[in-house]
Amino acid sequence: MHIVRKVTDDITWIGSDDSKVRTFEDHYPVDGMTYNSYLLKDTEKTVLFDTCDKSQNKIFLDNLKYALDGRKPDIIVVHHAEPDHSATLEFVMSLYPDAKIASSAQAKKMIEQFTGVDISDRHILLKEGTEISTGKHTLKFISAPMVHWPEVMMTYDSCDKILFSADAFGKFGSRNGKLFDGEVSFDSELENHRRYYTNIVGKYGTQVMSVLKKAGLLDIKLICPLHGYIWRDKISDIIEKYSKWASYEPEIKGAFIAYSSVYGGTQEAAEYLANKLSENGVDALIKDVSHTDKSYLISSSFKYSNIVIATTTYNCEIFETMNEFLSCLVSHAVKNRKYSIIENGSWAPAAGKLIKEKLDGLGGSEYVGNTVTIKSFPSDENLAELDKLASDIKSSL
Ligand code: FEO
Repeated sequence: MHIVRKVTDDITWIGSDDSKVRTFEDHYPVDGMTYNSYLLKDTEKTVLFDTCDKSQNKIFLDNLKYALDGRKPDIIVVHHAEPDHSATLEFVMSLYPDAKIASSAQAKKMIEQFTGVDISDRHILLKEGTEISTGKHTLKFISAPMVHWPEVMMTYDSCDKILFSADAFGKFGSRNGKLFDGEVSFDSELENHRRYYTNIVGKYGTQVMSVLKKAGLLDIKLICPLHGYIWRDKISDIIEKYSKWASYEPEIKGAFIAYSSVYGGTQEAAEYLANKLSENGVDALIKDVSHTDKSYLISSSFKYSNIVIATTTYNCEIFETMNEFLSCLVSHAVKNRKYSIIENGSWAPAAGKLIKEKLDGLGGSEYVGNTVTIKSFPSDENLAELDKLASDIKSSL
């Protein structure tokens, strides 16, 4: 059994598509996941680019054997040592003991940590600018630290003009049998790309911008990432999105209203505000943080210019699920957003001050309008304050 597909005359996709898996990294909800691996069969050398997640061991090894068609890999390039791409490496190393392992120094250490095998006698050290000729193809290696781990390298194949981009330009979800970006609608897959980028790599915008700068100097016809589709037709579209995400520039001028509500008072305020914003022509998105996975909340926070935090006070603190979301905003370093606050408390509303203390640490946080303080359910006075807040948010866009 094999599931492979030609990328170019010399390069074959031999990855695997796990349409069954429901979490990535054991917590992000996904509708399947693709792990990409590529095989270059050149005139002089055969090169395997990355391996696969351990769950895909059987199909991956079958694909590799089929695509090799009697040849043996001379070099295995490890762009990224995270186990979703390297767990199968141990088996491949045993099957092909003469194959050299090419990686950064840090990736070598990680491979040895994960496998317990000393690879010193078969290791090729890759550094920024290292070149390897395989016959017709010349592979040039590009350092891409923190996209998404510190050891990451990318490869540029100047013959086929391919950038092997490691985790960058990947996505959550199955590929549903498709391989190239032109076989799917860009818009229908955009949230899978956004949620993947913002949650997995989002914190490292500076490093992503640095790699985008290097990639901008290359003539790229194909981008082959470790997850998702191969980019061929919509390279400029996805690079435009990455430039925005990496620079923390919102895609939409509008308000993402994140609320938590115990008895419904804060929910009413959030929905009243969303209604007012829409009435004023402002795009609003509303989500209950207690019932929405954090990865979707982070994705929406990258997308919108304004974020409204509406929450109850609980044990004199921010309500727990909102507190978790705010911690996620901080840990993902979501910068340059405009915040508005609605706090609720039946006897001592205090969440607003605590929210500001958390958000102040994020670079470029601004506040729009006055904090609206609700006691249990919105009063007529609160509704007037929410009208004013809607107007202030509109003016801030
Ligand atoms: Fe797809 Fe960072 O591993």
